[in-house]
Amino acid sequence: MKLRYLGHSCFVVEGSERIIIDPFINGNPLSPVSVDEIKVDVVAVTHGHRDHLGDAIEIAKNNDATLVAIHEIAVYASSKGARAEGINMGGGIKIGDTEIIMVQAWHSSGIDEANYEIATSPAALIIKAGKTIYHAGDTALFSDMKLIGELYGPDVALLPIGGRYTMDARQAVKAAEMVGAAINIPMHYNTFEAIRQDPEEFRRMAEERGIKVVVLKPGEELNLD
Ligand code: NI
Ligand code: MN
Repeated sequence: MKLRYLGHSCFVVEGSERIIIDPFINGNPLSPVSVDEIKVDVVAVTHGHRDHLGDAIEIAKNNDATLVAIHEIAVYASSKGARAEGINMGGGIKIGDTEIIMVQAWHSSGIDEANYEIATSPAALIIKAGKTIYHAGDTALFSDMKLIGELYGPDVALLPIGGRYTMDARQAVKAAEMVGAAINIPMHYNTFEAIRQDPEEFRRMAEERGIKVVVLKPGEELNLD
């Protein structure tokens, strides 16, 4: 199983299914790929903000892939012609050999639609595809991350470190400690000036506490076998 980072909060999980999470490609200055190059079976979305819902609907339609998101986003994506499956907090869906479970994130969320936002709830995702991955979405630090760690025992945690709209590196170290994944990968930083952050600083602070961090550059991948 492989995990490929495409910048911001976008990852591709390649197990028995290929799953792209939060595909923000167009408008992402760090994206190493174009929308046309993406070949996936599932598109998973944590929340409606443009830097997460991004190109999800177009990619789902291009690939005849299943878009998985919270109920309201799934209904919206269906109305735009995508094949979508809605899930919600604490629940999930199995697609082939992959299970996607929705857990909470502490944030806001809305779908950007012609000068107003359709309010939806933010979420995080657990992806079980051989190894278990926790994609924290956009979130502040909250103590139920410990419960998420206990319930799902993720092997890998994908954690925002950019600050301003999410937790910063110092808080992400605390999150990594609570979740307890063997590998922690930083995300949601350096895409824009407002979320500039040194991932090596996150790594240094985490390693001081015996927590392993792998910093991926956009386009890089990690083999999890
Ligand atoms: Ni957001
Ligand atoms: Mn975001």
